[in-house]
This record gives sequence, structure tokens and C-alpha cells, in this order.
Amino acid sequence: MTVTVDRHLDAETLAEQMRADVRAGLSATPKTIPPTYFYDEVGSDLFDAITRLPEYYPTRREAEILRAHAGEIAAATGADTLVELGSGTSEKTRILLDALSRGGSLRRFVPFDVDDVTLLRAGEAVAAEYPGVDVHAVVGDFSRHVGELPTGGRRLVAFLGSTIGNFEPAPRAAFLAGLADTFGSGDALLLGTDLVKAADRLVAAYEDSQGVTAAFNRNLLVRINRELGASFAPAAFAHRALWNESDSRIEMHLVSEHAQQVQIGAQVISFAAGETIHTENSYKFTPARLSRIAERAGWRVDS
Ligand code: SAH
Ligand code: TRP
Repeated sequence: MTVTVDRHLDAETLAEQMRADVRAGLSATPKTIPPTYFYDEVGSDLFDAITRLPEYYPTRREAEILRAHAGEIAAATGADTLVELGSGTSEKTRILLDALSRGGSLRRFVPFDVDDVTLLRAGEAVAAEYPGVDVHAVVGDFSRHVGELPTGGRRLVAFLGSTIGNFEPAPRAAFLAGLADTFGSGDALLLGTDLVKAADRLVAAYEDSQGVTAAFNRNLLVRINRELGASFAPAAFAHRALWNESDSRIEMHLVSEHAQQVQIGAQVISFAAGETIHTENSYKFTPARLSRIAERAGWRVDS
């Protein structure tokens, strides 16, 4: 069983990019760290644990929707290639792979992710489970390498898990427009997003009672300590999730429990008591708004 791998991002380039992004983000006001860096090997495992939490409804709900509609999606697209962006463990993707196999069209699976360890593990598992399917894994970053995905065939691009909700509006529009350019008129995009709902349910999904999401958030600091030689005391930062109604997004923060200084190489970063690092947004949509966003980016909507 072989898996072809394209690497557009090596560990060194990623580490350099992380150093520059973290320095810039922690020098800014308010302080931020880009969410891409959540996903090292430990972070991907913690995210996998999040998807099984009782409070984190999106994964189970998305799997249910996929089970109900996968046959219809396979028939409507007739895809021979399933591309998956931000594929992670590709667990729910099996539902689409099964439907495309049953429909007889599936030839190739192209998972794309920034975390090479999780990507290769998932790619090998899919190759073993679907013997006739050619697995072509691509290590890369959404913002730079989507144009280098393998071409040819009739492609269905799945972008699941509400990951599109983690983009800011301007990069989101640019990303979706870039995708529309990269993919041809016979190709289709399957976008899995979360909808606006009661604030208490939304917040609970990002502030679970077992503290798994808190560990996921703090793992950013653990990673920065390890990879950038920083001196964060992760336990001195509290996890906080809040619903920002006017921007229609869940915000994730790490809150400094007291005034403290942190060293990153030669740089010293000062935190006031209660000062936060904004680590992630998860935008929530209405169906109408989502359609407008996709149409403006050059996609015809069929929902
Ligand atoms: N699709 C899975 C995983 C979602 S978590 C699901 O639905 O459960 C988000 C995934 O996107 C992770 O696997 C993470 O490694 C990947 N990711 C995050 N930022 C990325 C980036 N900038 N480029 C490529 N992949 C990225
Ligand atoms: N795409 C997921 C979401 O927005 C990512 C996610 C889930 C996440 N839980 C998180 C990101 C906690 C940061 C912290 O739902």
C-alpha cells in the first residue's frame, strides 16, 4: 500500500514562519497568535479528543448530515478525486469515501494538511482501507499551497469541521476566490460550517467541563516553549471562550493570571494581570450569509 506525499512545507520553514508570526502577534496590541500553530502532533490528538466531547456537537452533527446526504453528493458530483482540506484524521471523510466508492467513481484521495504526522497516519489508514484508491497526501498551508494540489479528473473538495469559520473575513474571501480559480467548472466544493445558535450551547462547545479545550489552547504555549525556546508557564494562563454577538464568532483567549514577563529568545514580552492572547475565532453563520459569501467568491450554490 503506497501513499504519495508532496511536501510544500518542511519543518524548518514552518518553524521560521512560526517564529516570525508569534513575535509579531505578541508584539501587537491586543496580543494574538495565529491558530495554525495549534496543530502539532499533541495539538492534533487533543483536537481529536475535542471532537468526542459531549459538549462539542459540531463533529457528531456534521457526521449525521454526511450520512444522510453522502449518496446524493456522490451522485451529484460523480467525483473520481476527493480532495480534503485541513483533513486531520479524515474520520468523517470515510462517509464520503464510502459513498463515492459505492457510486463507482472514486479513484483518488488527496488529503491536505499542515500537520504532516497526522496527515500521513490518516493517509496510510485510508490507503489500507480502500485498496483501489490512490492516496496522494499534500503537506501545505491553506494560505499558500492550495494552487499546488494535484490536478485532473472530476474533483470534489471537502472542507469540513467548520475550519472555514477560523478564517477572518478578508482572508476567507480571498481563500474561497482562490479555490474557485484553482478548481474548474466540473469540480465541486463541500463546505461544512456551524450555524449561529443559542450562546450557552456555543460557549459550552469551546469551554468543556473536562478541560480538554483548555489543554488544546494552552498547548500553543507548550509548543512555543519547545520550538522557539520561550519561557511561558502555561498554567499561568487561563482558557476563556466567549460569544462575540456583533461579529458572530466564538473567541478563544489565554488570559494572563497575573502580571508576568515571558522570554522568547532575546525578546521579552510583558503581560498585565488579566491581559489576553487572542488565539482563535470560530465564526458562526446563517445559511443565507454563507450562500452570499460563497457566491461572491465565484461559487454557484447548491444546498
Ligand atoms: N477536518 C477535520 C479536522 C478539523 S481541525 C474535522 O473536520 O474534524 C482543522 C485542521 O486543519 C487540522 O487538521 C489542522 O492541522 C489543519 N490546519 C489548520 N491550519 C492550517 C493551515 N494553515 N493549512 C493547512 N491545514 C491547516
Ligand atoms: N474548526 C474548529 C471550530 O471552530 C476548531 C476548534 C474546535 C477549536 N475547538 C476549538 C479551535 C478550540 C480552538 C480552540 O469549531
